[in-house]
Amino acid sequence: MPLAEVSVSPEMRFPSGIGELDGVLGGGFVRGSVVLIGGEPGIGKSTLLLQAAGALGARGVPVMYVCGEESVQQVRSRADRIGASAGICLLPEVDAAVIEATVLAERPQVVVVDSVQTLFDPGLDGVPGSVGQVRATTARLVRMAKTHDITLLVVGHVTKDGTIAGPRVLEHVVDTVLYFEGDADHAFRIVRAAKNRFGSVSDIGIFEMTESGLAEVGQPSNALLAEREGGVAGSAVFATMEGSRPLLVEVQALVTPTYLQVPRRLSVGIENARMLQVLAILERRAGVALGACDVYVSVAGGVRVSEPAVDLPLALALASARKDVPLPSDAVAFGELGLTGDVRSVPHAAARLREAARMGFGRALGPRMKEPDGPKEYVVARTIAEALGAAIG
Ligand code: TYD
Ligand code: MG
Repeated sequence: MPLAEVSVSPEMRFPSGIGELDGVLGGGFVRGSVVLIGGEPGIGKSTLLLQAAGALGARGVPVMYVCGEESVQQVRSRADRIGASAGICLLPEVDAAVIEATVLAERPQVVVVDSVQTLFDPGLDGVPGSVGQVRATTARLVRMAKTHDITLLVVGHVTKDGTIAGPRVLEHVVDTVLYFEGDADHAFRIVRAAKNRFGSVSDIGIFEMTESGLAEVGQPSNALLAEREGGVAGSAVFATMEGSRPLLVEVQALVTPTYLQVPRRLSVGIENARMLQVLAILERRAGVALGACDVYVSVAGGVRVSEPAVDLPLALALASARKDVPLPSDAVAFGELGLTGDVRSVPHAAARLREAARMGFGRALGPRMKEPDGPKEYVVARTIAEALGAAIG
């Protein structure tokens, strides 16, 4: 077919009714598209999809919820808890052929499959959850969705090491892959798009798990900094980016004399290798002696940061903990550290500064930049030594 003769009809979108979710999707669900929602067990995948199903159902969109994992009673009691009931039909079934036949008979607009690991094709070898079964049953339902313009939402569990026959082997057959991140021990949940044929992958959705389901968190910085105590040594505020959204998080460090032959270095929420590198830079380029100390580092609120811009706030928190001198409580920081101790620029500096100003911070510390606009005072740190001089003297 000549490319030029292909007719382009704009994709037919409809919102889920949950703003944070629609944002990650690039403006809602697309008809006939397949979305995979991955995440560790217990993170909230079923809750989110049941809430979305409830919101769709309440607007008159017919939804079928295939519960392969839980009994209809369990789903009902969760639905009551989160206030979703109207317009959802439950189908307790794991046989992919029966699911397909039922969908074609009932014609819902949206089908939720919870979860892909329970699906089974009796014509194939292998137990449910094996690579062969997961691939074949999903392929069958994807074909059904494409042919009949049904929006298919598939739940897939990933384990901590991400090795099972789940979302990973399906990423290429679906249109959109969302990953649900967060720490089951903390309330915050981040939904991130790892792939999206109908939108960008830079948007994220932020939720909080509450007694009555997932609540949207419009201003995550407020919540993340709510418990911060100003004026304590070892605490720095980091202006980070989650996708295209700025976010302020607290980086904490604890430095104590060691009683071990090999000092302990432990980090939560920050990659260990990154912390070790920052420790080495501090020791060598700023003369902060840490060799005889145990070091603990964490990001408050269960957030995980992986961007290099955390280097500077991390170094400040560590030096502040080591010297037992608090950082100015109205200051935020960001910047990558080079191995020579230089502070390097990072993307989205303007957005970071705007968020800092919005949250009422009066000072920011970071790399050189043109016309910094945000908090009243912008302190340029060209090196880690300069940054320490400005922040803790
Ligand atoms: P769930 O959605 O079942 O996780 P997944 O489908 O990803 O395995 O729920 C995750 C956890 O959230 C569960 O342990 C209970 C908790 N939870 C709440 O705290 N509040 C609620 O309203 C609901 C429905 C669940
Ligand atoms: Mg579940």
